[in-house]
Amino acid sequence: MKTSYRKALITGASAGLGEEFARQLAMTGTNLLLVARRKDRLEKLAAELTQKHGVSVEIFPADLSRDYDLNCLVEKVRQTEDLDLLVNNAGFGGKSKFYKDETGEAEQMIRVHVQAPAVLTRAALPAMLRRGRGAVINVSSVAAFSPFSGAMYSSTKAFLAMFSVNLQNELLDRGIRVQALCPGLTHTEFHEVAGINKESIPGLLWMKADRVVRISLRALGGRRVIVVPGLRNRLITFLMRCPWTFSVVQWLARRRKVRKMAGM
Ligand SMILES: NC(=O)c1ccc[n+]([C@@H]2O[C@H](COP(=O)([O-])OP(=O)(O)OC[C@H]3O[C@@H](n4cnc5c(N)ncnc54)[C@H](OP(=O)(O)O)[C@@H]3O)[C@@H](O)[C@H]2O)c1
Repeated sequence: MKTSYRKALITGASAGLGEEFARQLAMTGTNLLLVARRKDRLEKLAAELTQKHGVSVEIFPADLSRDYDLNCLVEKVRQTEDLDLLVNNAGFGGKSKFYKDETGEAEQMIRVHVQAPAVLTRAALPAMLRRGRGAVINVSSVAAFSPFSGAMYSSTKAFLAMFSVNLQNELLDRGIRVQALCPGLTHTEFHEVAGINKESIPGLLWMKADRVVRISLRALGGRRVIVVPGLRNRLITFLMRCPWTFSVVQWLARRRKVRKMAGM
């Protein structure tokens, strides 16, 4: 089912999946509110999308790990009465192991992957509920189900998956759709930012960002809350969740060679 939106807020819109959400939504005539730290990138994207598609694009430069920036954005969301799609997409992969982290990366991840999506969703819901229409996409990951993806990254992405499932149940019959998008390896700037060498990962495991976003937006009209794009990612997720293969996956995650391949 194809659905159109009046205005969408996208966090992490300066690159990768967030930028792709902005492009595909602008194409359907959705006005945008774009959030990320890099103001220059947001300005460039806003100018391009306004010129190409005639939509209104507002930018809101913010670091979602900072309380002040997040509070200002929450206020902005409360005042944006026509916001009917919220895409909680901003995120990053950790550079250090949890037990070695001395930079505050773990706390930053909780703020960006957990606190920001939760408070932004709560700020956006009242207007959506008044209208009886709206949608929230929380960009989680197949890492939500994986024992290979880092203590903090996996657990914050698992929060987004279960937050979405339970929130959708709270909002049954209220006209609001909630989705946890769980991509697998996707070509964006994510791995470069996290210092992960992409060359060591087989090419067939990767997806393009435009395909992931297309699948997400298409699925938003349907009933599924957890959306895992791509057949291979669905198979991998099934093997990680299925009780019969769960122990095998756990056993594999403890093998030194496998851990090295996964960059652990
Ligand atoms: N790529 C993958 O393989 C993959 C797989 C599964 C899930 N994901 C998830 O997909 C989402 C998008 O990632 P991506 O792959 O598109 O990576 P990306 O190309 O690195 O984009 C990440 C976006 O998040 C923004 N961001 C990061 N930290 C932020 C902060 N503190 N405050 C505000 N914005 C922040 C970045 O903007 P600024 O730097 O300008 O702030 C950027 O726009 C993430 O949640 C990631 O966990 C990615």
